[in-house]
Formats: sequence, C-alpha cells, structure tokens
Amino acid sequence: MRVAMIGAGYVGLVSGACFAEFGVDVCVVDTEVSKVEALRAGRIPIYEPGLDKLVSENVRDGRLSFTTDLSEAMEGADAVFLAVGTPSRRGDGHADLSYVFAAAEQVARAAKGPLVLVTKSTVPVGTGRQIQELIARVRPDAEIEVASNPEFLREGNAIGDFMRPDRVVIGAESDRAFQVLRRLYRPLYLIETPIVQTGIETAELIKYAANAFLAVKITFINQMADLCEKAGADVHDVARGMGLDGRIGRKFLHAGPGYGGSCFPKDTLALARTAQELGAPATIVEQTIAANDARKEAMAERVIAAMGGSVAGKTIAVLGLTFKPETDDMRDAPSLVVVPRLAQAGATIRAYDPQPSHARQLMPAATHFADSALDAAEGADAVVLLTEWNEFRALSPDRLKATMAGNTVLDLRNAWDPQAFREAGFQYQSIGRP
Ligand code: UDX
Repeated sequence: MRVAMIGAGYVGLVSGACFAEFGVDVCVVDTEVSKVEALRAGRIPIYEPGLDKLVSENVRDGRLSFTTDLSEAMEGADAVFLAVGTPSRRGDGHADLSYVFAAAEQVARAAKGPLVLVTKSTVPVGTGRQIQELIARVRPDAEIEVASNPEFLREGNAIGDFMRPDRVVIGAESDRAFQVLRRLYRPLYLIETPIVQTGIETAELIKYAANAFLAVKITFINQMADLCEKAGADVHDVARGMGLDGRIGRKFLHAGPGYGGSCFPKDTLALARTAQELGAPATIVEQTIAANDARKEAMAERVIAAMGGSVAGKTIAVLGLTFKPETDDMRDAPSLVVVPRLAQAGATIRAYDPQPSHARQLMPAATHFADSALDAAEGADAVVLLTEWNEFRALSPDRLKATMAGNTVLDLRNAWDPQAFREAGFQYQSIGRP
C-alpha cells in the first residue's frame, strides 16, 4: 500500500514512520524546504524517543521518503493523510483550519486515481463534511472519499501509542474507505486492537471528547489536591483509592501544576467554542479551562508564599521547563507562567531542563540557564521542581542541600519523598500531600 502524509510535524512524522514500519510505502510531504532537506539528511526536527531510529531504518529500507512536491507524494497513493497543524486561532480559541483546507484543496486538484483523504489533524466536528463540500466544488469529478482517523499520541511515548494503541478510531462513509484504513492498520489486528468504525462527525468528536475528559480528570485531581491540603489528607492516596475503582481508573490522576502541551489546552478551548456555537455548552470543559489557567498562576504565588511572601533578591532554581518529561515541547508549559511571574517579583532564576529546547527564547531575559540540576541549585534559596524528568527523581536530598544556600523545596510534581527531604533539613512542600 502507498500513503502520502501531508505535514512533517509531530503527528505526520510519527504516523508516517510507524506506517512505514508496518510495511506501507510512505511519502511525507511538507512545504518547508529546509525541514524536508534536514529529514533527507537524516536530521529529525523534533525530539521524540526512538523516532530517529525508526525514521532512518525505514528510509534505509526504502519505505519512507520526504518531498516538498505533493503530486510526487500522491503518486499511486491509496490514502492521503492530513497531518497539518490546527493551532488555536488568535482571539476566539477556535481551531485554525486554514492549513487543513489549503492542503485538502491541493489534494483535490492533484488527485488522479481514487483515494481516501484522511484527517489525522485534530479538527472540530463538521470539518470532514466541509472538506467533502470543498472537494465537490473544486474537483467534482475526483474519486475522493473523506475519512477521519484521529491520533491519540502522547509526546514522549508516541511510537508506543501508535504501535500499541488502546483503540483505532475510523470515521468514514463508504466500505472502500473503511477497507483502505483497515488494511493500513492490519498489523494491529494481531494484537487485537479494538477498531471503532463510525461516522465522520462521531470520529471527530471522539478525539475532542477524549482529550477534554482527560483534562477534566487532571483538573479534578488538582482541585482534590487543594482540598487535601486544607483537610490534612493525602492526594496520592485519594487518587489511588479512587483509581482502583475500575470505573474510574488510575491513569491521569496525578496532581501537578496544571496541564499543558500541544493538545489539551487547544482542544479544550476548541471544544468549548464548538459546543457553545452548536447550542450545547460544555460548561464542565469551560470550568476546567479556567481552573487550569488559574492553577498555573497559583503555582507562582505558592512559591512566593513559601518564601515568606517575597522573592525579591532571592535565587530560585527551576528544574524542568518543558510541559512534561521526554519532550522538548514548551507549548503551554506551566514554566511559561511560573518563571516570568517569579522574575517579575524580583527573583533571580537559575533554570535547567535536560532537553535542549527553544526555552531560552521563551524565558525572561534574566534567566540563567544551568548545565545540570545541581548547577541550577548552586547557591539557590529555593528549588522548584516543575517537570518530573527521571534524572530529577534520583537527586540526593543531601547533595542538593549542600549545594543550595537556602532550604526551601517546592515539589510541584510530587516526584520526591517528603520524609527524605524533611530529614535532610528542607522546608519541603508538595502538591496535596501533608
Ligand atoms: C495528549 C493526549 O494524552 C494524547 O492522547 C493526545 O492526543 C495529545 O495530547 P500529550 O499532550 O503529549 O498527549 O501529553 P499527556 O501525557 O497527555 O500530558 C498532558 C499534560 O497533562 C501534561 O502537562 C502533563 O504534565 C499533564 N498531566 C498528565 C497531569 O498533570 N497529570 C496527569 O495525571 C497526567
């Protein structure tokens, strides 16, 4: 089988490389010449564990290629996937679909034989229908079936999520489209992956509903953590006690500084807007967005309060800047709110993140970038753990104490052992734990 993947971003690269690994011939197309040149030279523009190896092996075996030429990519393709960005539109939170429609139109114009045009990008419910209308307008003669096949890839674990998914969702309207997609995912039948076959609108909504539900779940446990602090309870045990109920499940019940990333913030906003416009407001999602935004601000205030109400002239080590570990993605990371607020309140920031990223451009100018966690902690009055990279988990409290000038630790990911830190002489605070 042959597939053209439009967009060499995160989703397109991971999906393209994984389909190639399934034995499909994949050509990834992107308009950005420098990106395609880099990929051809074996350089991967994003950090995702295992992706460089998967790409290079499949390129070597001739199943994966890169181009800027859409017609070339579409030559003989059974399916064309849209994996272009759908960022939040400035001002109203709606997903910006201009890249999706532009790519769909180009596909319609370039189509020669029958093909399935599959949306992998996260698009609001109704977009597939609009793509069908667009095709009917520009190429009424083209044999193009529209389908929706949303991705559920977590950054840092994207290859595993693609190769061993909980389910595959396929929204389409013809047997041919279902057949093409089922054939592409055939290797997953061996591991008995459930395939959810449904209409296009339903598939589009499943993606938003899943992401919004997970965002609600995180926000719920974050609010329980606040309550635990007032009530003298332990959120870790509350989460475990709740999560062992099979109806609830233990995943996504880790209290923290608020969710970030490329999906939850954008998708919750877009879902809330769509729901409002269709006259079925998703008020739970709206509340979640507001609570999560407020939480990031509250984290900065918590640091200030832990330092006696002022951080002016104090040095604060911030460990972890990305929105979660094992990624270089800074989108909507809590650090983008917490660090500027602390700097504005007069603190000197010594930051360290294990993954080089464009964090340097995003942090306040006065931020000092350290080479390791201990280097960041050198002479610091406080340490704030913002992202739970594994290398931070292993930090010895005694070595940290010996490096720092002060003794305040805010573990905003509950990654450390409270007792060990208190025994080492720290004023240790975590989230929702006594
Ligand atoms: C998410 C979805 O999980 C994935 O299916 C998708 O389609 C894209 O969006 P991703 O954004 O990569 O993936 O990361 P995820 O692991 O889901 O974490 C999102 C955010 O929630 C992070 O900021 C993380 O720190 C936070 N989080 C997650 C919590 O605070 N607590 C949790 O229990 C889980």
